[in-house]
Amino acid sequence: MEFNKITTCKGEVTIPGDKSISHRAVMFGALAKGTTKVSGFLKGADCLSTISCFKQLGIDIEEQNNQIYIHGKGLHGLSASANPLDTGNSGTTTRLISGILAGQSFTTELNGDASIQKRPMRRIIEPLSLMGASIESIRGNDCAPLRITGKPLHSISYQSKVASAQVKSAILLAGLYADVKTSVTEPAISRNHTEIMLNSFGAKVESVGLTATVYPEPDLYAIDINVPGDISSAAYFIATGLIVPGSEILIKNVGINPTRDGIIRVAKEMGGDITLLNVKESGEPTADILVKHSNLHGITIGGDIIPTLIDEIPIIAIMAAYASGTTIIKDAAELKVKESNRIDVMVNNLSAMGCDITGTNDGMIIHGGKQLHGAVIDSHLDHRIAMSFAVASLACEGTTTIQGAECVNISYPNFYEDLKGLCK
Ligand code: S3P
Repeated sequence: MEFNKITTCKGEVTIPGDKSISHRAVMFGALAKGTTKVSGFLKGADCLSTISCFKQLGIDIEEQNNQIYIHGKGLHGLSASANPLDTGNSGTTTRLISGILAGQSFTTELNGDASIQKRPMRRIIEPLSLMGASIESIRGNDCAPLRITGKPLHSISYQSKVASAQVKSAILLAGLYADVKTSVTEPAISRNHTEIMLNSFGAKVESVGLTATVYPEPDLYAIDINVPGDISSAAYFIATGLIVPGSEILIKNVGINPTRDGIIRVAKEMGGDITLLNVKESGEPTADILVKHSNLHGITIGGDIIPTLIDEIPIIAIMAAYASGTTIIKDAAELKVKESNRIDVMVNNLSAMGCDITGTNDGMIIHGGKQLHGAVIDSHLDHRIAMSFAVASLACEGTTTIQGAECVNISYPNFYEDLKGLCK
């Protein structure tokens, strides 16, 4: 797909539903008694993978008037699937469902696409095995395909080496089936949607500092869920507004949970003109975000803020390329094990556009402000890479060709239409 420089970007965009919250709504709805109604569900390929996995586990899920209805069967109502589950490209589906399957009384095999088959699963195999589940990497390489045989679980107090909501959530979900309370402590706080939503369904999950604790065998009861817009998707419009001269964009209905809002904090620190409007403080707070073109400058990004913007680092790197001065991104080695190796892929693609960027062991160093030019971009079928370079192409000279551009269907199927709708 080809992209060219635009004059400016103005208008309003409503962001589709949050991917993390959409996954969890289906999973927890399946484990609850009664029918959970989800409005604003993200119909991206990842969340559709979660739906199809739970259908295979015997849960009725239907769509009516753009709402998703999950007819839950309670904590012990899932049934064995005749065929392996296909988690597609979705790390969240793979890791969270493993926590649930660890507590079932049957065996399940699960597998995903080529990217999923390279992503590290030792991080869930270890704690779930410690809890007593039998969980095996079928090829013996600590990746999917996995074979999981649920067992009566015992609780653990687990010290996670990585700040990962997927690891934390897998353990908390297994903890629903354990004998006594189960705790996970992380090196830095990761997104807390599981804790918030499980409590809304009637579970007891406590968060104190870096530790989340779940109590076993609650009765979960169906609820109505309004999924806010995904800040990770809003990030592309935040960057567009900031880097394309003369732009002014109102991004509506964005989730601004403090465990996800690092992109807003970083964009402001880089000199971005960003205003939050219509802020609603509830379980999952939301706001409209007004962004105006700004002269950005480089900053250093590292430490505890990293988990709050981990998926936004590709687009932050694009912002840094258009900023004056140097941006250092560190403490982000997790980028290497996302849908692609996002350090290498950003370095190669931004270099191809003429940017001065160097990869490091745990991030990248970008000397911004050089004139960028169009290039052929290999997305590596990573949705966040494709969207980041579509944005980069709007403010540089020449034509940019993005290979595998259709992979945005993972998290934002209408991304290009929404972006083009604002471009002048
Ligand atoms: C997610 C957690 C993060 C994030 C991913 C979604 C989730 O992954 O990168 O896109 O919904 O829990 P990690 O837990 O691997 O950091």
